[in-house]
Amino acid sequence: MKVLVIGKGGREHAIAHAVSKSSLVEKLYAAPGNPGMAEIAENVDIGDSDVEGLLAFAKQQKIDLTIVGPEHTLALGIVDAFEKEGLKIFGPTKAAAQVESSKEFAKKIMMKYGIPTAAYQSFTEKESAIAYVKEKGAPIVVKEDGLKAGKGVTVAETVEEAISALDIAFAQEGGKVVIEECLRGFEFSLICFVCGETVIPMEIAQDHKCAYDGDKGPNTGGMGVYSPVRRITPAIIEETMHSIMRPMASAMVKEGVPFTGFLYGGLMLTTDGVKTIEFNARFGDPEAEVILPRLQSDFVQVILDVMDQKECTLTWSKDVTLGVVLASGGYPASSTKGACIEGIDQVNAQIYHMGTAWKDGHLVTDGGRVLIVVGEGKTLEEAYAKTYAEVKKINCDCLFYRNDIGKKDMNA
Ligand code: AMP
Ligand code: GLY
Repeated sequence: MKVLVIGKGGREHAIAHAVSKSSLVEKLYAAPGNPGMAEIAENVDIGDSDVEGLLAFAKQQKIDLTIVGPEHTLALGIVDAFEKEGLKIFGPTKAAAQVESSKEFAKKIMMKYGIPTAAYQSFTEKESAIAYVKEKGAPIVVKEDGLKAGKGVTVAETVEEAISALDIAFAQEGGKVVIEECLRGFEFSLICFVCGETVIPMEIAQDHKCAYDGDKGPNTGGMGVYSPVRRITPAIIEETMHSIMRPMASAMVKEGVPFTGFLYGGLMLTTDGVKTIEFNARFGDPEAEVILPRLQSDFVQVILDVMDQKECTLTWSKDVTLGVVLASGGYPASSTKGACIEGIDQVNAQIYHMGTAWKDGHLVTDGGRVLIVVGEGKTLEEAYAKTYAEVKKINCDCLFYRNDIGKKDMNA
């Protein structure tokens, strides 16, 4: 088979890596890919927003299966465009991708079908939003509507903080926000392979969204992650599948917007059971980078089976994988380009490229999140020690990372 992976980040590198291990695959392309992906795939110089260019390439090369990484490519309607031409593509249509691109779309379905989530209200006017925040008090969560790469969310501990988040959101044209009850508890991600009512869960991962140690600092796309998560027991996973993931897939079928692709549940284990923080219409990044290396089943075969709506059982390595993100100083507010990265050839762990480029024969930084180093061990403690020993071999003045990935679960 010829397979095309769309995207250029760490998630897509991990997806391409999993595809490259499949016995079904003869040729793997990545568009546009990245320097890490170039080692396992042929990178094609077509941007991940160029739906027409990607479609023309897939037709010309007779690609048998396309896998979409980023949410913005899905929100542009790439799946609709490919399916219209009879090309096989794993991802949701533009309408179904609204489960992520519109917080309100997802919330309305959750409310209608009784899927547990935080109480919310949406606003298009700043004054009424401020009045609502004052009435509810803190803590409270302010979310800008639309795709924000994990950055449009403020978990405000005070009313003042919530109001300044509203100031920023409404300073933008067409400002629209969702204000939510703040959920307290243990956060985890459950990602499923989905096609209509067929929903196959993967193993659990825990992302670390805040920029700095101790969950301090601004929200980011994710600074580190590990899998599995021992606090999330099989009974909790079954509850989540039963009350959240399967009902959501089934609700989308009933609403006439069936979902195909990776359905990502961002979840909170509260004292009142598991509640939904959000759904995403694609694999998590950095979750993909620790979940996929543990998958022992043939990834491409699983996707084909799910698309045929066949039930399948996945097999997983029992090892723990732990990933530490190296990000540019200033991320998420700013990012650097062109700083030299040394020492990655000394690293004895998997590295996925998130934002790198080649410049004058050197690997350089090219974005906010730059690399993720993924180590493994028999236990979380072992995976932690192994990964951080490897992270320290990378030299780049402009990069920083969190030192406490996985620590919360160790202290539990
Ligand atoms: P989102 O973009 O919706 O994933 O939000 C980013 C992060 O903000 C989540 O991963 C949570 O850590 C936090 N968050 C979002 N919504 C809530 C909520 N209702 N209660 C508590 N934390 C939240
Ligand atoms: N890791 C969070 C996300 O992919 O949205």
